[in-house]
Amino acid sequence: MKITILGCGALGRLLAYFLTKNGNNVQGWLKEDKKNNICINITHTNNTKDNIILPTNNILHLNNSNLLIVTLKIGSIIYSLKQIINFINKNCIILLIYNGLGIEKKLSFIKQPLLIGITYHAVYKEKEIIYHNYKGLTAIGKINNTVKDINYNILIKKLNLALTNVIWCENIHVFKLKKLAINCVINPLTTIYNCKNGELLKYNKSIFSICKELSYILIHMNIFINTKDLVILVTNVINNTKNNISSMLQDIKNNKYSEIDYINGYIIKCARLYNLYIYENIKLFNMIKYKELNVI
Ligand code: PAF
Repeated sequence: MKITILGCGALGRLLAYFLTKNGNNVQGWLKEDKKNNICINITHTNNTKDNIILPTNNILHLNNSNLLIVTLKIGSIIYSLKQIINFINKNCIILLIYNGLGIEKKLSFIKQPLLIGITYHAVYKEKEIIYHNYKGLTAIGKINNTVKDINYNILIKKLNLALTNVIWCENIHVFKLKKLAINCVINPLTTIYNCKNGELLKYNKSIFSICKELSYILIHMNIFINTKDLVILVTNVINNTKNNISSMLQDIKNNKYSEIDYINGYIIKCARLYNLYIYENIKLFNMIKYKELNVI
């Protein structure tokens, strides 16, 4: 497959690495820094190291890509996609993989087949090195019906060969909301306590209170998950990704705005819509907003 990856942060580089190693023709697309290539240095889950050179920003490669994977932060997806959408052929499948929710209604300018992915790979970037901490599941599904009757089986098979644990999901929205709930707990807490995911296990009382509030809100969104099951889900992710630095903590450490508006912020908006009294998510939201005051 000819693939372009828009967004060469930790996740984008991880996917580029595995897809290249699996024989695909992959390039990265950098928004500002128009280099011809970048070096991907990776430390694997078993601590072995490797590196590849990834070509970047070749317009012909973009024109001819069969797959465009977008791994940008949710807040910059719309603007960045609009910059390049006219260079993408109409049959190219666009796969968006992002944390959070809230931009879905603004994606109607995309006329290509559009997929959304949720991944449990845990990865962070430090000093240009990508640390892959957990090989998690990636669920992919459809969010628009612009192009009907496409058989995505081949795509899923190819992605599965490269990334392992890739599944097709008919009801991707449920998957997305569950991942959102997990991010609502892990991301702000790791940022507030400035710790790796695994260290959160000692804050089990906070985890319980946040999950209780989240399951109460999720029921109003037709996602029926009780507090106990949500705590188990969150705890499993914490255990699996114990050595990871959450994406929100990475942002704050790198002096960037976080995705809080699209994570706990999204949940707060939904709670308002349903007239629900909430406390925990607002507290976390305000604490992260306070941290963001230092972002230059
Ligand atoms: O945002 C993140 O960092 C990831 O979604 C997760 C699963 C919490 C692992 O760090």
